[in-house]
Amino acid sequence: MNILSGFSDKELQSAYIDAYNMKMFNFTALPPLSLYVHIPWCVRKCPYCDFNSHSSDGELPEKQYIASLFADLEHDLPDIWGRPVQSIFIGGGTPSLFSAEAIDELIGGLRMRLNLDPMAEITLEANPGTIETGRFAEFKNTGINRLSIGCQSFNNEHLQKLGRIHNAQDAINAAESAHAAGFDNFNLDLMFGLPEQTLQAAMKDIEQAIALSPSHISHYQLTIEPNTMFHHSPPVLPKDETNWAMQEQCEQLLVEAGYGHYEISAHAKHGKQCQHNLNYWQFGDYLGIGAGAHAKISSAAEQNITRSWKHKHPDKFLAASTGKHISGTSILSRQDAVFEFMMNALRLKQGFTKTLFTERAGLPIHQISKALDVAEQRQLITHDISRIQTTEHGWHFLNDLIAVFLEEES
Ligand SMILES: C[S@@+](CC[C@H](N)C(=O)[O-])C[C@H]1O[C@@H](n2cnc3c(N)ncnc32)[C@H](O)[C@@H]1O
Ligand code: SF4
Repeated sequence: MNILSGFSDKELQSAYIDAYNMKMFNFTALPPLSLYVHIPWCVRKCPYCDFNSHSSDGELPEKQYIASLFADLEHDLPDIWGRPVQSIFIGGGTPSLFSAEAIDELIGGLRMRLNLDPMAEITLEANPGTIETGRFAEFKNTGINRLSIGCQSFNNEHLQKLGRIHNAQDAINAAESAHAAGFDNFNLDLMFGLPEQTLQAAMKDIEQAIALSPSHISHYQLTIEPNTMFHHSPPVLPKDETNWAMQEQCEQLLVEAGYGHYEISAHAKHGKQCQHNLNYWQFGDYLGIGAGAHAKISSAAEQNITRSWKHKHPDKFLAASTGKHISGTSILSRQDAVFEFMMNALRLKQGFTKTLFTERAGLPIHQISKALDVAEQRQLITHDISRIQTTEHGWHFLNDLIAVFLEEES
């Protein structure tokens, strides 16, 4: 007797859908893994910033925080047992507020606990207002092999409007000290579309950045985020057309100077793309330790992708006992995985292969074939048998493009 007889078509159909949904993903290999470490303090809060950063009043609890970071990491280790870590990014906040001794202890402790690739890229974010002479050399001795320096602009008036704690000369000195300390790999962060900024001023900032010869330049358009001072009392920003002109003309300057444009805001000399950020954009895995840090881990055993995040406030994070640093977790649905993959990978200038999608999202390509067709019809992407790439038009309407994958999926 057929065991399925006695069920209606509707019941059978729903049983198939349940079975399909239970086998959520199909990971044939796990993606590369990186580690993000968050240091949540700054000298003072910038009026445009919505990162998890808190003004430091007085001495930082460096030792206590590093002990908490290790406790936090140890709890997460079973999720990544044996997997090599290919990059570490110490971000903030302002990690360069920590002493070289503290960073040394941090990196030593991470090396002891992790299977760290000997060639791993290890980046530290630095604010030019916190770098006295000799500090970069000390950081280099701890094993940091890449710096990311937050210059934002080389125009004193604009720096002042941004509430920065440094002036243009400090930013220039920071880049020169990075060279002097022997860093052959460092990034300068710049923003454009600043209050009352002209096209000429934005281009002058880029020219100054290029003259300092970093290996990498990030160029972000200033966005006004909720819960920031700029949101409460908005400054006068350049018009959209001016912002477009800034983006296009600055990009041209960067490309002419040998900085390849590989992600919407990122430009690098040959071979100097940020490995850590590339892993995010290619939907790799990462652990996140420290206040408010996020993680994304794929599991071959469970055939799922889990996101987790840590307590956001430094005091709550510091007060947590071992195993209690996690504030929340969620397991991605297939729809989440598609959307998050696209949100990252469509930012890459070279696009991505269909194989990368099936490997990293753990889903067959037909899951997105309808959305790909819609995006192509709207001229937002091109796609052939192997590669999907955002068009120039798609870059201008990136949010609309990503939304196609949300609409079609749902
Ligand atoms: C996490 S922040 C940390 C950098 C470091 N604390 C500093 O500001 O010197 C990284 C970069 O994000 C960019 N950024 C921060 N807030 C932004 C905003 N509202 N709009 C655009 N870019 C922003 C800045 O260029 C900043 O250097
Ligand atoms: S220094 Fe950097 S992280 Fe700190 S408040 Fe300013 S932009 Fe945000």
